[in-house]
Amino acid sequence: MVKFCALILNTLLQISYINSLQRLILNGYWNLEDSNAKYTNLTGTIPGGIYTDLQNSNVINNIFVGSNDVDTRWVSKLNWNYSRCFEVNEKLFYHDQIYLVFEGIDTFAEVLVNGQTVGTTNNMFVRYEFDVKDQIEFGKNCILVHFKSPVERADFFAKRQDKYYSVLPKCVPNEYHGECHVNHIRKMQASFSWDWGPAFPSMGIWKMVYLEAYNHTIIKDVTVKIEDLGDKWMFNLKTYMQLNKLKCLSGSLLIKLSTDFETIEYMHEINQKDKIQEFEDHRQFQIRKEKFTLWWPNGYGEQKLYKLKVQFVSSDNQETTIKRLRVGIRKIELVQERLAEEGFNFFFKVNDIPIFAKGTNMIPISILPELGQDIKKIRYLLQSCKDVHMNMIRIWGGGVYESDELYSVADEMGILIWQDFMFACSMYPTNEEFLNTVKMEVQQQIRRLQHHASIAIWAGNNENEAALVQNWYGTDANFTLYKKDYIKLYVDTVRSVALMNDDSRPFLVSSPTNGIKSEESGFIAKNPQDQLNGDVHYYNYVMDGWDQNIYPVARFVSEYGYQSMPFLESLLKATNDNTDIIIGSKFMEHRQHSPGGFATMQTLISKRLQLPDQNSANFTKAFIFYSQISQAMSIKIETEYYRQWQNKTNSVGKGNTMGALYWQLNDVWAAPSWSGIDFYGNWKMLHYYAKDFFAPVIVTAHVLVNREINVYIISDLLHPVYDAKLTMYTYNWNSFNPIASVSRSVDVLHGSQLVYSFWYDKSKLQCDARTNCFIYFILKNNKDELIAPVNFVLPDALKTSNIEHANVRIRSINQVTAEKFSIQIETNAIAAFVWLQTDIQGSFSRNGFIMVDKICEVFFIGSTTVHELKTSINITHLKHLDYA
Ligand SMILES: *[C@@H]1O[C@H](CO)[C@@H](O)[C@H](O)[C@H]1NC(C)=O
Ligand SMILES: *[C@@H]1O[C@H](CO)[C@@H](O)[C@H](O)[C@H]1NC(C)=O
Ligand SMILES: *[C@@H]1O[C@H](CO)[C@@H](O)[C@H](O)[C@H]1NC(C)=O
Ligand SMILES: *[C@@H]1O[C@H](CO)[C@@H](O)[C@H](O)[C@H]1NC(C)=O
Ligand SMILES: *[C@@H]1O[C@H](CO)[C@@H](O)[C@H](O)[C@H]1NC(C)=O
Ligand SMILES: *[C@@H]1O[C@H](CO)[C@@H](O)[C@H](O)[C@H]1NC(C)=O
Ligand SMILES: *[C@@H]1O[C@H](CO)[C@@H](O)[C@H](O)[C@H]1NC(C)=O
Repeated sequence: MVKFCALILNTLLQISYINSLQRLILNGYWNLEDSNAKYTNLTGTIPGGIYTDLQNSNVINNIFVGSNDVDTRWVSKLNWNYSRCFEVNEKLFYHDQIYLVFEGIDTFAEVLVNGQTVGTTNNMFVRYEFDVKDQIEFGKNCILVHFKSPVERADFFAKRQDKYYSVLPKCVPNEYHGECHVNHIRKMQASFSWDWGPAFPSMGIWKMVYLEAYNHTIIKDVTVKIEDLGDKWMFNLKTYMQLNKLKCLSGSLLIKLSTDFETIEYMHEINQKDKIQEFEDHRQFQIRKEKFTLWWPNGYGEQKLYKLKVQFVSSDNQETTIKRLRVGIRKIELVQERLAEEGFNFFFKVNDIPIFAKGTNMIPISILPELGQDIKKIRYLLQSCKDVHMNMIRIWGGGVYESDELYSVADEMGILIWQDFMFACSMYPTNEEFLNTVKMEVQQQIRRLQHHASIAIWAGNNENEAALVQNWYGTDANFTLYKKDYIKLYVDTVRSVALMNDDSRPFLVSSPTNGIKSEESGFIAKNPQDQLNGDVHYYNYVMDGWDQNIYPVARFVSEYGYQSMPFLESLLKATNDNTDIIIGSKFMEHRQHSPGGFATMQTLISKRLQLPDQNSANFTKAFIFYSQISQAMSIKIETEYYRQWQNKTNSVGKGNTMGALYWQLNDVWAAPSWSGIDFYGNWKMLHYYAKDFFAPVIVTAHVLVNREINVYIISDLLHPVYDAKLTMYTYNWNSFNPIASVSRSVDVLHGSQLVYSFWYDKSKLQCDARTNCFIYFILKNNKDELIAPVNFVLPDALKTSNIEHANVRIRSINQVTAEKFSIQIETNAIAAFVWLQTDIQGSFSRNGFIMVDKICEVFFIGSTTVHELKTSINITHLKHLDYA
């Protein structure tokens, strides 16, 4: 298990000067009080936020414990003042232009410098730059940022809007314990609650704040479009500069780009004839392809990044401004071609290679924006994605545009990013004020992020086309009106600003959509969930998730999932009262935001597994473990199904599936949720299973309704593996000796191949009627090495299979290398879902597996000792007496 380290903010007052462009960083300790002076003399830390500051000042307790989310809600209903004084020296003061820059301010604030208002803010996704030349004094200056309650503001805007018509929905379900009207404000939509998270309507200066002074220019952003010209790459660079409005810009722009062999430099003069405030420099240059190594997604090759430096030196040599980036050389396309049968296909191509997108959806790194920039946590989560063969994550539209660090780490690890714009599950206003701030937001975010090789696609919103068309919130009564708003916001505004600033990658208006087909029908399709076009989101909470036949055959599935419980140990960090850890307790109900969520989980579990009696002392423990088994198994079976359809279609033209991004990677508190990694960084069984079901080569079976079993081998490898050997064993649950085995010689080719079909006929197979059978697959190359994870199918429900209460124990632990430990496990009978757990940071080579041999070996990777591991490791499995 892995624990996240809390974000350690540099609490020293930071002041630094950069080159001759003067930058006075104002991060550090500020004074904090509420507007009415009830809570005074507190310390705020910048970058930061009100909840973190009040916790550090002991005004409120740990917000992630108990019902503190609701108990501290008053914080979000007050107005808060952050203030500090600072010295401005001569060097900074004598400049034509002095700006106060907030890289991120959450959300409604009035900013005063030396008592004079210099600006107001209303969008946490926008960088604000206030001209303070007239307010700044030589020597001592004071700044005050007065934050207004976002809950009160949202309410105000909703009421104002209601005079015309209501922008729906009016509020979140009661189970969310949330706040209403977040769709009226440009703030992390989940900060007013979600079905997996608490409401913390935050306030604060969540990114850097500084004074910036110059006489010539500042380079704000650089975007890079790389085009394929056959034997050369064409680089299209746009440099966005902010100028001195009193002067004509004059100087030279120097571009330096590293290649595999040298650094190439380009220089040109800029002599502006007009006094303007902004300037866009456009440059194009061509470089031969041999000078670069391509950037590839995880699993396809390396992630080479090249340094790009853009520097402006003023003609009087007094001022320099620099922007440094790292770029990856790659081509990316979203292919949507009309198919012979029906509809359009929908897949990503990188460097001309079609990529089956394997991954997950990411919710915000933290529900508190200031903690979302924790680089350790970002690295941990993305490394966890890389470790389980993911190549794409979707940054979902209800959170934030994440930090620069996150996209840089994704560049380094080859994790493609499907980037939503921050609109989710709602109608939105379209008044001029709202549209204007959205334009600014889209422009700034695209210019900030455009150069990242990892970003594969922009998408306008999450599920808003579906919400409108499927009348989720009662918009049908005035459909035309809401449709007009939809087009105005996502097509005329978000899409058009996005394409204006970046035409180097695809843009989708929504997810799910029919893609090109939605565009043809005026961006609103009759059925945005059409399986023949674009992407779909699929959830089903009534049917048996272990039955592959319930799942859609779609082109691309960008969301699908099931809830499970977090670990007992994680829940015990959110309460120290053991009586809270009971399914049905007030504490548990409080943390279950999905209406009927426990019943849904129980339904899923009980289709296949036998929970102990509801009143048994062991019920909750079993519920926690079984919920994780059911989640892992359902998503495994669902994902394998999507991979089976990779390059085949059925009689109505469905198929050619090329993406599986399950919901959801991470958590923002300890609660039941769809995550594969819990709030404290522990991998649930699902995340371990992802390592197998996303492996480059898999063996997988489809159990048809008529009990025919089709076995597929699926390979993402670009090279074939000839003469491999597939062996299938049939086991009764009560014996280590398989009752049948079949071997086949196969060539493992790119794509999905049906390699074997048979009937699951129990009497013919000599399956014990009481214990039932399962089938176990092993795929090896001609050197007898495994080339795919071992896999299994369970044709019968385990609740009707008489599986023994095996005695599974750790036999020995030995150190292999500094951070690798070999664990010998022993059992006296076949054991299902053998699960290892320890509170030491690290991970197991496999987990949640079926043990078909008396002894097996698992590795633990982590920094520890044999003794520590021995005393902390626990082992359990499906039929452990704990769950009787
Ligand atoms: C907080 O700032 C507001 C706006 O400037 C001001 O009206 C109010 O008096 C301030 N509150 C305190 C306690 O200083
Ligand atoms: C404010 O806090 C500081 C240190 O915490 C203390 O020394 C000072 O007396 C306090 N001032 C007021 C007005 O409470
Ligand atoms: C910036 O320009 C002002 C005149 O507008 C001049 O007084 C000052 O010295 C210049 N600063 C630098 C660093 O060149
Ligand atoms: C539809 O919206 C218009 C305002 O544009 C309003 O006058 C009308 O009452 C609304 N109709 C319904 C059924 O809500
Ligand atoms: C899919 O890929 C496999 C393996 O390369 C190949 O055998 C099969 O013919 C392909 N199917 C279709 C429909 O192209
Ligand atoms: C493992 O079991 C021991 C006692 O057997 C217990 O103290 C420890 O907390 C358990 N650890 C985990 C991670 O479950
Ligand atoms: C509950 O768990 C305990 C501890 O593992 C076990 O001894 C017991 O048999 C289980 N079943 C019941 C019904 O208590």
